[in-house]
Amino acid sequence: MAVATAAALLAALGGALWLVSRRFVGSRAQRLHGHGDPGLMHGKTVLITGANSGLGRATAAELLRLGARVIMGCRDRARAEEAAGQLRRELAQAAGPAPDAAGELIVKELDLASLRSVRAFCQELLQEEPRLDVLINNAGIFQCPYMKTEDGFEMQFGVNHLGHFLLTHLLLGLLKSSAPSRIVVVSSKLYKYGDINFEDLNSEQSYNKSFCYSRSKLANILFTRELARRLEGTNVTVNVLHPGIVRTNLGRHIHIPLLARPLFSLVSWAFFKSPLEGAQTSIYLASSPEVEGVSGRYFGDCKEEELLPKAMDESVARKLWDISEVMVGILK
Ligand SMILES: NC(=O)c1ccc[n+]([C@@H]2O[C@H](COP(=O)([O-])OP(=O)(O)OC[C@H]3O[C@@H](n4cnc5c(N)ncnc54)[C@H](OP(=O)(O)O)[C@@H]3O)[C@@H](O)[C@H]2O)c1
Ligand SMILES: *[C@@H]1O[C@H](CO)[C@@H](O)[C@H](O)[C@H]1NC(C)=O
Ligand SMILES: *[C@@H]1O[C@H](CO)[C@@H](O)[C@H](O)[C@H]1NC(C)=O
Repeated sequence: MAVATAAALLAALGGALWLVSRRFVGSRAQRLHGHGDPGLMHGKTVLITGANSGLGRATAAELLRLGARVIMGCRDRARAEEAAGQLRRELAQAAGPAPDAAGELIVKELDLASLRSVRAFCQELLQEEPRLDVLINNAGIFQCPYMKTEDGFEMQFGVNHLGHFLLTHLLLGLLKSSAPSRIVVVSSKLYKYGDINFEDLNSEQSYNKSFCYSRSKLANILFTRELARRLEGTNVTVNVLHPGIVRTNLGRHIHIPLLARPLFSLVSWAFFKSPLEGAQTSIYLASSPEVEGVSGRYFGDCKEEELLPKAMDESVARKLWDISEVMVGILK
């Protein structure tokens, strides 16, 4: 009996140690690109959607550290101001010999679930900002219950794809006049389980929250590839990435039974990336000289990766583009 208990305790201890070691070995390996030169983004303006939380927040922190003027496009001003305040304090505490090298943070209201909000946001930005060097389409919503945006689109398709589609369209002139400039799109490996079912883009016939998330992330990739094709010769590049599995607030709509929560916390602490680790590919595509001129590619862990054929289908990409133009009301 005592032997069995001791064995069980030893096994638990061994398991815990293994998790801890995995955690720390993993984190070192993931931070290869976190040491950019502090002045790298000096003089550059970057817009990050959903910059108050998770990957967007970590991306904002790092680009700020690299000297960028970072515009946080967020749907909730209070949450965004709070995050901005924290980021400024963290930066002030961490500032080494040259605190002046850091950039600045600007908070602006942007609700991607409202085309009216996207238009108002862009109108203001175009009036106030003389340039835009990097646009990071990062905001996202994951497996929510069936909801519609203000304009009647299924929420995940509406926010993750259509809101960003209109945003990018309205900012393209400024990006072009600021060239060389970059667009970075945050997708997910889960795109693999999606399809663009043109006959029910608003999921009125049936709603499957996993499918709709995957569909929106597939749309992010098809959008990137079609946009890259349209932007050839402009010196505006666009690339798409998957961040891996990251500990953020993305799972807010997923219900985990109370009893399973400690286990989930342990597993996510041990195996999920931290937001800063997860943001490395966004930061890399936004700032690294290594990807100057590279466009239309898919990245993970700061390296190019292959796509499934369905994400490279040019006719689906074109059709999605045309329908998106009609849905957001920009068809000339
Ligand atoms: N975490 C992962 O494991 C993972 C894996 C693959 C891909 N991704 C992708 O990574 C991106 C960032 O997600 P995250 O993991 O950092 O999650 P997160 O912590 O939940 O951050 C998502 C951000 O998007 C914002 N957002 C949601 N709906 C919006 C709307 N209607 N208008 C404007 N902003 C809106 C959120 O604002 P509020 O705070 O106001 O809600 C938040 O700032 C997403 O595109 C997601 O699909 C994440
Ligand atoms: C929902 O979609 C996912 C991903 O496409 C699929 O694996 C799953 O079987 C679907 N669920 C139902 C109930 O159809
Ligand atoms: C793109 O950049 C190259 C190299 O800097 C430059 O020669 C070219 O004129 C630029 N093209 C446009 C359309 O800005």
